Amino acid sequence: MGVQIFKNVEVLISSLADTIVAISKESIAKKGRFDFVLSGGSSPQKLYELLASEKYRNKIDWSKTFFFFGDERFVPEGDPERNSLMAKKSLLEALEISDNNIFIVDTSTTPSESANRYAKRIIKHFGGQEIIFDFVLLGLGDDAHTASLFPSTDVLDETESTIKSVFVKKLNTDRITMTAALINEANHIAFLVFGKNKAEAVLNVLENSKLKPEEFPAKLIHPKKGNLSWFIDDKAGSLLDSY
Ligand code: 6PG
Repeated sequence: MGVQIFKNVEVLISSLADTIVAISKESIAKKGRFDFVLSGGSSPQKLYELLASEKYRNKIDWSKTFFFFGDERFVPEGDPERNSLMAKKSLLEALEISDNNIFIVDTSTTPSESANRYAKRIIKHFGGQEIIFDFVLLGLGDDAHTASLFPSTDVLDETESTIKSVFVKKLNTDRITMTAALINEANHIAFLVFGKNKAEAVLNVLENSKLKPEEFPAKLIHPKKGNLSWFIDDKAGSLLDSY
């Protein structure tokens, strides 16, 4: 596992953007496309804007890139809370990505049906073969959740490599999320974490082996065959001893 600590967010997201470019080239060369799972929350916004900027937009073959969401809030598509709305505004619209290349979560039904429909679309995209994403971008909550794998929720025990709905009591809301098993099938997984408020969660996940994954769900992320990287700024890494 590679943990990189950067002196500031700008340097961090440039390095992460370069990594994504390299992985996209490798994936397209190997299988003709790049299956890219986007993270939600606010942290990725600057990264998405950088990827859509003049500096990076021509470095990736976007026509061969397919976008998925590691999780989605169970709100209507236009809702400001939507992870897909942030991604559209900061990345997808600027790059004029075809709707056929974007796998949006349909939340017009029940949470469990929404999860089933999302899973079916992904299975179809992978032609019924193993679902192995090329790159999964993850954020980290200050409670060490990732995607919508929140502490003490039943989705943490899910061993199936799929999409599940989960009611998150502390937020009083439903979420749609990839299970840890599905994320762990990926070729490359990268956490993007910055800010002082994340330092405790980073320390707990990376350096406290005694803590249980049920309370610190990001500990569940261990790629089966792929690799895991942490892109952290100085502030979020300020409590770490061994990096
Ligand atoms: C979401 C995300 C979630 C996010 C973390 C960090 O739907 O909110 O998928 O897992 O990555 O909560 O969020 P911030 O980047 O906003 O701190």
